Amino acid sequence: MLRIFETPESVSQAAADFILSVGKKAVGERGGFSLVLSGGSTPRQIFDLIALRAADFRELWAATKFFWGDERCVPPDHADSNYRMAREHLLEPLAIPDDRIHRMKGEDPDSDRAAAAYEKLFPPQPDLILLGMGEDGHTASLFPGTAAVGESQRIVVPGLAPVEPTRRLTITPPAIRSARNVLVVTTGEGKAPALARVFAAKGSLDETPARLVREATWFVDRDAAGQLKNPTIAPEGETP
Ligand code: 6PG
Repeated sequence: MLRIFETPESVSQAAADFILSVGKKAVGERGGFSLVLSGGSTPRQIFDLIALRAADFRELWAATKFFWGDERCVPPDHADSNYRMAREHLLEPLAIPDDRIHRMKGEDPDSDRAAAAYEKLFPPQPDLILLGMGEDGHTASLFPGTAAVGESQRIVVPGLAPVEPTRRLTITPPAIRSARNVLVVTTGEGKAPALARVFAAKGSLDETPARLVREATWFVDRDAAGQLKNPTIAPEGETP
């Protein structure tokens, strides 16, 4: 399902609403919520919106466990750390205790060991995985042409990015497929060519890893949707 919104702000607001609603449903049905976070600038805005409404969702956050879909191989206090971004914009404002925060150990010099350790922590069926998409069509840290995109057994592997920091940890296609819900948020005209490739009738995962999540819920803005050609896509929401 793809929804196109007028502005990046409305995408973030809708994503915050979606996360809160999936979370409440998970707590109602299963007594807990496992939320897998991503890095990037779009999630940051979503986290800030969720933090503003912290007081209204205390029960939800008291029943939520936090995980990550990818991490840059840097220490947790580094400016590039996805954990640090989430800590500052979401976890501290929501006052989440450490025992419900399950971060990837990006600081471990042995990425294979860090990935293997995280596989043991990662929930078998996360309630929600939040993802973004890069201009090259990557999602999580599954970058075009890298081995992680073709991984079919492991849940977490070391990843390789074409930009600094190049060393990553990332969940794999099987991990993403295991989720009950996947929400992908992406905005801006820089993402338009990749988004068109994601929803094109033909294309390869190797070139555009985000094709892996074609069936997910996508919230995008008008600029990112600018090159969508596939007539089978019926945009909903605030269509331009
Ligand atoms: C990361 C991410 C990555 C991100 C995209 C989009 O660690 O960089 O998890 O997959 O979601 O690069 O990032 P933006 O939202 O900043 O465009």
